[in-house]
Amino acid sequence: MSTERALQTAIATAREAGALLRTFLHRPLHIHEKARRADLVTDADRSSEQLIVERLRAAFPSSTIVGEESGVHDGTGSERWYVDPLDGTTNFAHGYPIFCVSIGYERDGELMAGVIYAPFYDELFAASRGAGATLNGTPIRVSRIAKLADAMTCTGFRPADYDRNGAHFQTMSRTAQAVRRDGSAALDLASVACGRFDGFWEFDLRAWDVAAGAMLVREAGGTVSAIGGSAFRTDGGSILATNGPIHEEMLAVLAKDA
Ligand code: IPD
Ligand code: CA
Ligand code: CA
Repeated sequence: MSTERALQTAIATAREAGALLRTFLHRPLHIHEKARRADLVTDADRSSEQLIVERLRAAFPSSTIVGEESGVHDGTGSERWYVDPLDGTTNFAHGYPIFCVSIGYERDGELMAGVIYAPFYDELFAASRGAGATLNGTPIRVSRIAKLADAMTCTGFRPADYDRNGAHFQTMSRTAQAVRRDGSAALDLASVACGRFDGFWEFDLRAWDVAAGAMLVREAGGTVSAIGGSAFRTDGGSILATNGPIHEEMLAVLAKDA
């Protein structure tokens, strides 16, 4: 039941899954498109998820595991894991190194811990409720940037979602110092937590994309809400995660084009 044991289990598991992903990098991949265009899955995603589910199940037999590729593995207890075995699959399939493993841990409906591991960079982000966030064991904080005009922001969207995102992307590109579209929502959130990005927004994300990252941003001193400004919910779809000072300005830009 202890959060610390969950955190350590997630850390060890994310590292192991990340090492497995690295072994797929330099050999031919089997790449399939899922129901939506440009929504890819590879044998690396599936192998990583299988490993993670096995490890979490062995360590926490009564917990529920929600995995992107294999669905819900029901448990009898109040603990729940959100697993993205490879976030940034399109990047991975092209050999672009922005991808990660993301594991979020919830108890009684509250996020308690989150771990994101970027295997190419060997960067392990970890956070647990009330204990702060770390990168490779060193405490991290969000940035101190005070104005959107000085901010490096990031977003993500799929080809079919361009209509909804195009206006936001354009206005934000004109207003912020920079906008990036890095292709891994979980790692984008980790980048907000450690101050590389000052803000990140995206619609239509799933719990496995955001659970760990939202935990990291909060524990690193940042602010997390839905894009409309209401309270963030793991299964709520949209997310706006910032360093705090630029949150209102980003909300205003996103409200304008909504
Ligand atoms: C995707 C990535 C991408 C985001 C998509 C996600 P996947 O996850 O996080 O950056 O724009 O919305 O679905 O499919 O690579 O795990
Ligand atoms: Ca994902
Ligand atoms: Ca994924």
